[in-house]
Amino acid sequence: MTPSIAATMSAQGHVKDPKLADAGVSRIEWAEREMPVLRQIRARFERDRPLKGKRIAACLHVTTETANLMLTLKAGGAEIALCASNPLSTQDDVVAALVHRYGIPTFAIKGEDAETYYSHIDAVIDSKPEFTMDDGCDLVTVLHTKRGDAIGTVIAGTEETTTGVIRLRSMVRDGALRYPILAVNDSKTKYLFDNRYGTGQSTLDGVIRATNRLIAGSTVVVLGYGWCGRGVASRARGMGAHVIVTEVDPLPALEAVMDGFQVMPAPEAVKLGDVFVTVTGNIHVLALDHFRSMKNGAIVANSGHFNVELDLDSLRKEAKSVRTVRPFVEEYTLPLDKQIFVLGEGRLINLAAAEGHPAAVMDMSFANQALGIEYLLSHARELKPNVYPIPKALDQEIARLKLEALGVRIDTLTPEQSAYLASWQQGT
Ligand SMILES: NC(=O)c1ccc[n+]([C@@H]2O[C@H](COP(=O)([O-])OP(=O)(O)OC[C@H]3O[C@@H](n4cnc5c(N)ncnc54)[C@H](O)[C@@H]3O)[C@@H](O)[C@H]2O)c1
Repeated sequence: MTPSIAATMSAQGHVKDPKLADAGVSRIEWAEREMPVLRQIRARFERDRPLKGKRIAACLHVTTETANLMLTLKAGGAEIALCASNPLSTQDDVVAALVHRYGIPTFAIKGEDAETYYSHIDAVIDSKPEFTMDDGCDLVTVLHTKRGDAIGTVIAGTEETTTGVIRLRSMVRDGALRYPILAVNDSKTKYLFDNRYGTGQSTLDGVIRATNRLIAGSTVVVLGYGWCGRGVASRARGMGAHVIVTEVDPLPALEAVMDGFQVMPAPEAVKLGDVFVTVTGNIHVLALDHFRSMKNGAIVANSGHFNVELDLDSLRKEAKSVRTVRPFVEEYTLPLDKQIFVLGEGRLINLAAAEGHPAAVMDMSFANQALGIEYLLSHARELKPNVYPIPKALDQEIARLKLEALGVRIDTLTPEQSAYLASWQQGT
C-alpha cells in the first residue's frame, strides 16, 4: 500500500471518493425496491432490536444489495464493520454512502492491490467481532492464521458462497476450524436462485458490458455445469448462442446433455468457442495449452469465486505483448499474432464489469444471512466448530415471504393428502 493510500484510511473506513456518497444512496435505495423479504426483516429488526450491541465483521462484495443487508443488521442493533471479499467487486459509491451517509465503517476500494485488500480485512478484525460474515473464506482464514489474537471473542459465523463452504469443510477435515459456521450457500433459497439466475444473468451482463459483443450466433463455452454453470448456459442459449458445456463429473455432464447442450472435453471445446466462461471453483481450468488452441479473437472470462480458474501467469509469459484495449478487456498477443481477450483480469466478471446479481435474488441470499445471524444468537453455544446448514424452516419461510411479495399464492395439503403422504399402508 502506498503511503498516500494508507493516509486515507481511518477507523470510520477507507473510501475512494466521499463525493460519490449521494450517487451511492440513490443506487442503494433502487436495490431496496427489489428486496421485499429483507425489507420485512429490517422492519422487524427495527422493532425488536435482536442484534443490539452485537459486533459483526463482514467480508462481502460491497454492492448496493450488501449495503441493504448492512442497514438491516444495523436496524437490528448490530455494530458492523465491512470490507470487500474481492479486490475488483467493490462499488466505490456504495462505500462512500455507507461511511458518510449511514455511518457504517467500510473498508474497500475498487481495484485495491493485495496488500490493501488484506489491510482492510485486518481493519474489520480490529473491531473485535463476535460474528463473522464471509464470502469466500478469506476473513475466516486470516482470523485462523495471522490474527489468532482476535479469534477468542468470535462466537460463530456465516459463509455466502460455494468456494467458501468448500474451504471451510477442508478446515474441518484438518481440525483447524475453531467456531461454528452456517453455510448460507447451501440454502435452497440461495443457490437455486442466486447461483443459477443471478450468476446466469449478471455474468452475461458483465461479458456484454465489457465487450459489447453480440451473443446471438456466438459459440459460448461454459466450463462447469454446477448451479452457476446451469444459469450461464441457459441464459446464453436464451440470447441465441450455441452453447458447449465441459465437465469433470459425469452426473452434471449427463444433465447438461439432457438439457440439450453439447458436452465435450475442454481440449476440443477450446477450438470451437468464441466466448469462454469458467464457473467451476477450480484451479487452471483454462491452462496454457487451452489458450494456445483457441481461435484468434477468443474472449475469456471467469465467474467463479477466485481468479485462479484461468492460468493467466502462463498466458502472460507466453504473450508477446499485453495491453488494455477497453475497460476490463486485456488483449494478449501470442506468437503467430493470435489474440486472446481476457476480461476483468480473470476476476468474477459479473462483479468486475457489471453490478453483480440483481437485487431480487440477493433479497433471498441476504435474508438467509440476516436470519442466519439471528439464529446463531440463540443457538451458537450449542454448536461445535463445524459447518451447518441454515435450518430448513428458515429456508422455507424465506421462500414463502418471497412468493407473498411476488403476489403468488399456492395450494395447501388437504387433511386427506397429509394423511396419505404420512402413511405406508395405502398402495395400489
Ligand atoms: N460470480 C458470482 O457472483 C458467483 C455466485 C455464486 C457462486 N460463485 C462461485 O462460482 C463457482 C461455482 O459455484 P457453483 O455453485 O456453480 O458450484 P458447483 O459445485 O455447483 O459447480 C461447480 C461445477 O464445476 C465442475 N468442475 C470442477 N472442476 C472442473 C473442471 N476442471 N472442468 C469442468 N468442470 C469442472 C464440478 O464438477 C461442478 O459440477 C464457485 O467458485 C462459487 O463460489 C460465483
